[in-house]
Amino acid sequence: MTLPARPALRVGMIGHAFMGAAHSHAWRTAPRFFDLPLTPELTVLAGRDPAGVTAAAARLGWADTETDWRRVLERPDVDLVDICTPGHTHAEMAIAALAAGKHVLCEKPMANSVAEAEAMAEAAERAADSGVRAMVGFTYRRVPAITLARQLVAEGRLGQIRHVRAQYLQDWIADPASPMSWRLEKDKAGSGALGDIGAHIVDLTQFITGQTLTGVSALLETFVAKRPLPASSGKLGGVGGEGMGEVTVDDAAVFLGRFTGGALGTFEATRFALGRKNAIRIEVNGSAGSLAFDFEDMNVLHFFDGGEPAATAGFRRIVVTEPEHPYVGAWWPAGHGLGYEHGFTHQVVDLVTALAAGEQPTPSFADGLQVQRVLDAVERIAADRSTWTEIPTHAAQDEGPRPPHHSQARGGPLDEAEEPNERKDLS
Ligand SMILES: NC(=O)c1ccc[n+]([C@@H]2O[C@H](COP(=O)([O-])OP(=O)(O)OC[C@H]3O[C@@H](n4cnc5c(N)ncnc54)[C@H](O)[C@@H]3O)[C@@H](O)[C@H]2O)c1
Repeated sequence: MTLPARPALRVGMIGHAFMGAAHSHAWRTAPRFFDLPLTPELTVLAGRDPAGVTAAAARLGWADTETDWRRVLERPDVDLVDICTPGHTHAEMAIAALAAGKHVLCEKPMANSVAEAEAMAEAAERAADSGVRAMVGFTYRRVPAITLARQLVAEGRLGQIRHVRAQYLQDWIADPASPMSWRLEKDKAGSGALGDIGAHIVDLTQFITGQTLTGVSALLETFVAKRPLPASSGKLGGVGGEGMGEVTVDDAAVFLGRFTGGALGTFEATRFALGRKNAIRIEVNGSAGSLAFDFEDMNVLHFFDGGEPAATAGFRRIVVTEPEHPYVGAWWPAGHGLGYEHGFTHQVVDLVTALAAGEQPTPSFADGLQVQRVLDAVERIAADRSTWTEIPTHAAQDEGPRPPHHSQARGGPLDEAEEPNERKDLS
């Protein structure tokens, strides 16, 4: 099949395992279902092992390979660098790629520390002056039911948001015999369930509500302190072998937060919820309605309209597969659901569209930094008596006045009311 003639967007990708496969699929698929202004080309794939990267490139559809990621940045035939490696590599790779004039898509969590994230956000701001853009891969924003949830909140269908309830539940290390992996080592992953999956629900709740977290209190726990070293690795876990390694991250994170509009948030991120495989569960209650989502039923959004007569009111189950729903018109007839990989394709669509328009794609590195500050506040306060901890405000954020009933616990004076669900970012 010949694609419509469009300028090329030549991609160099680093890392070729779980996210590498998901991103490759998205780069390949997006221009075949969506009419994109630029045509992605899978130009070069980087990995450290020559045989491994050659085999991956053949399987995933990449034209060429490199065994040193720095070579990707030096290549004149690369416009965008896609970073699909563990967190400890993100800052160095992203900053160098931006300095080399390449657009960057970087997987989440954006970094392993606030200092790294600040340096990345600064590099992105500098690069934007010459039209070079950076984006973080908080992919779940692009699940159509989640995007629809955001639209409903933005349209005021929920009124003033009061409660945000978010869980990200997995169980792939619930078995103590499940082996060590980079996700269990602080120097590689930054944190455990908190940064790996908690970062997603921080981003998603802020995305859906259009508000940011102003402070948190938190508990972190490591249930299994030592695990077998891996004999082989699988998609996430693997098979344990000889010797034991030390787990240096949290196994579970539980935290409370308050949003800029006054809503209260409760968050839970764990990889010990036996039976829950990838349950991202979000419920939002407002003054006019509620919504609920569970990724294990990802084509569905539950919506309760508080304005309906009590006799017939109830949560309605919206099957988010109509052509009117976000992204869905490009896919299948109504009812023929979408899956995990579609979020990554939608991410490519939004990124390519923004790049062609010369606009900043979202979430930006400034957004990634803000999420990093939340993760950092959670870690700091969990280690220090779990008292209330303010989150530093990014200069560009939270310029609006405070909501009513702004308590002293948030540390500021009582201010004017802000508009319900005031949106900071409507792109
Ligand atoms: N958006 C999402 O929903 C989502 C889901 C899973 C993982 N992630 C994130 O994606 C990133 C990668 O996770 P993953 O699950 O793909 O991990 P993975 O272990 O499956 O793959 C990591 C890849 O990076 C390569 N790599 C590591 N260090 C490298 C280096 N210095 N140079 C070149 N290649 C290197 C490895 O060889 C491997 O190919 C992480 O930041 C993770 O948090 C995001």
